[in-house]
Amino acid sequence: MKNLKWWQKTAVYQIYPKSFMDTTGKGTGDLRGITSKLDYLQKLGVGAIWLTPIYPSPMIDNGYDISDYTAIDSSYGTMADFDELIDEAKARNIKIVMDLVYNHTSDKHAWFLESKSSRDNPKADWYIWRDEKTNWRSIFGGSAWEFCPERGQYYLHTFATQQPDLNWENPEVRRALFDAANFWLKKGVGGFRVDAITYIKKPAEFKDGESDGKDGLVSVHIMTAATKGILDFLHEFKREVFDGHDIFTVAEANGVAAEDLPKWVGSDGVFDMLFEFSHVNLSLKDGEIWCRPTKWKLTELKQAIANSQTATKNNGWYPIFFENHDKPRSVNHFLPKASDPIKAAKILGTILLTMRGTPFIYEGQELGMTNVAWDSIEKYNDISSRGQYEIALNEGFSKEKALEFVHFFSRDNARTPMQWNSSENAGFTAGKPWLPIHDDYKICNAATEDADKNSVLNYFRKLNAFRANSEILLFGDYEELLRDDENIFAFARAVENKKIYVLANFTLNEVTFPTEILGQSKFILGNYTAHNKGVLKPLEVVLYKEATS
Ligand code: GLC
Repeated sequence: MKNLKWWQKTAVYQIYPKSFMDTTGKGTGDLRGITSKLDYLQKLGVGAIWLTPIYPSPMIDNGYDISDYTAIDSSYGTMADFDELIDEAKARNIKIVMDLVYNHTSDKHAWFLESKSSRDNPKADWYIWRDEKTNWRSIFGGSAWEFCPERGQYYLHTFATQQPDLNWENPEVRRALFDAANFWLKKGVGGFRVDAITYIKKPAEFKDGESDGKDGLVSVHIMTAATKGILDFLHEFKREVFDGHDIFTVAEANGVAAEDLPKWVGSDGVFDMLFEFSHVNLSLKDGEIWCRPTKWKLTELKQAIANSQTATKNNGWYPIFFENHDKPRSVNHFLPKASDPIKAAKILGTILLTMRGTPFIYEGQELGMTNVAWDSIEKYNDISSRGQYEIALNEGFSKEKALEFVHFFSRDNARTPMQWNSSENAGFTAGKPWLPIHDDYKICNAATEDADKNSVLNYFRKLNAFRANSEILLFGDYEELLRDDENIFAFARAVENKKIYVLANFTLNEVTFPTEILGQSKFILGNYTAHNKGVLKPLEVVLYKEATS
C-alpha cells in the first residue's frame, strides 16, 4: 500500500469527557472512565482519541474556558490518571489527541487576573484592551466587549464574557502558548485539535460593521475571521511546536474558503487537516444566527463535500465529520424528520467511513444517538443555546419558536451522556448525571447493540474494519455520481479501474437509479437485508464493488 501516515489510515474518535464515563458517582465523566472504555474503542477500530479540553476550567463553556494550560481539571482526575490513559491507550495502538484552545483563556486564568489588574502590569498587553468598544456581537450573543472597572477599559471576547481573547501580537503570549503545547508533546500525545484558530488575528483597525441583526450588532465572525497576516502566526506555531513530531494537527477553521485551503493545509500550509463547516452549516447560510435557519438541498450538501474533496485531492487531507460536540446529532440534522434512526445512522456512517480522508466519529454516533427536545430553556446547560434563545426573542420570535430553534441547533443534543447499557442512567454514572440521559437509552446503548448483529454499532465496526484494509477506500480518488439528483447521495472511490460505489437514498420514498453507473460491480453491503439493483428503498444505503478488484 502507498505511503500514508498512521493518522491517514485510521478513524479518530472524539470524546466529550464530561459526558463519556463517570467512575466516581459525581455525575460527570472522568479520565479513568475513558481508560475503562479503551477496549470498546479498540473493538470499534479507532487509532486515535481526540479529547475535548480536560484542563482546569470554571466550566462556563464546559472546558473551553481554560484557567491553566498544563494541568488536569480535578473533576476529570489527576495527571497520573492522564499518564495512565496515554499508556493504556498506547498498549492498544491508540493515540491521545489534545484540544488546544488558544484564541482565549478563562477570565480566571492567572494571566488574565494579572492583565486586568492595571494598565501597566507585566501582562497588561496579553489580552485585547481598548478604550472604546465596537458594535461586534460575540458568537454566543451580546456585545463582544466587556468593561473592566480596574483598567477603565474594555476587553474583547469572541465567545463568552468569561473567555477573554489573547493578544497574539505579543511574542510573550505566543511563547507561553507554544511552551504549553510542547509540554503535552513531551507526554507523548499523538496530535492536536486546534480550537477556533481563525480568530487569533484581529484587524489592524477596530471599526463598527454594518449590523446583521435587530440588536444593531454585527457578528465578530464577520469582522475578524481569517484576518490577513494570520498565517504568519500559524507558521511560527508550526515551527515551534508541530515540526519534527509524528503527530497530526487538525484545526477548527470556520471562515476559511475552500480555495484558500492550500495555504492552510498540505505541503505549503500549516496544519495536516482543517475542519471547515460548509457541509454542516447549510442551515446557517445567513451567518451564525440560529433563528434564521435556511432550508438546504441534498445537491448543496453533495457540492459542499465534493468541493472539500477536490480541494484536498492533491494537497492536504480531509477530516470527514458529520457530528461533533457543537452540532446536533447528524441523524436529525441530515435526514427527514420521520426517519428510522437506525437506517439513518447507517447512511451517514457509510458516507463517513467510505469517503477520502480521516473519518472522525463523535461519541454516540456509532450507536445512532439522536437529539433531545427539552421543554424549557432552563433545562439547557449550553451557554450558546441560552444566548441564541435570547437573540431569537429579541428578533421577535415567540418563546415556543425560540425553543424550537434550540431543539434544532442546541449543542446539548450532542452532549447528553453516553449510553453504555440499559441500566439506570445508561451505565454512565452511579450518581445524578449532569445532563439528562436521552430517554431512548434502553434500546440505544452499547451493550444492547453489541449483542445485535444488525445494530448501528456492529455496522460501524464492520465498515471500519473493511476500510482499514481497503486500498480503494484509503487511497482512491473521489468521483461524484448523480450530481444533480436531489434524492440520492452517490459517489465512487477509484484506484485505476478498481472501484467502490456508494449510493444512499436520503428520502422516505423508494427511488430508482440508472444501473449503468455501477459498471460490472456487485453489491457487497447495505442497511437492508435484501437489495434490488436499480432501486433504493426509503433510507437505503448500498456499497458496490467492481468485480475485477
Ligand atoms: C470552539 C469549540 C466550542 C467552543 C468555542 C469556544 O468552537 O468547538 O465548543 O465553545 O470554540 O472555545
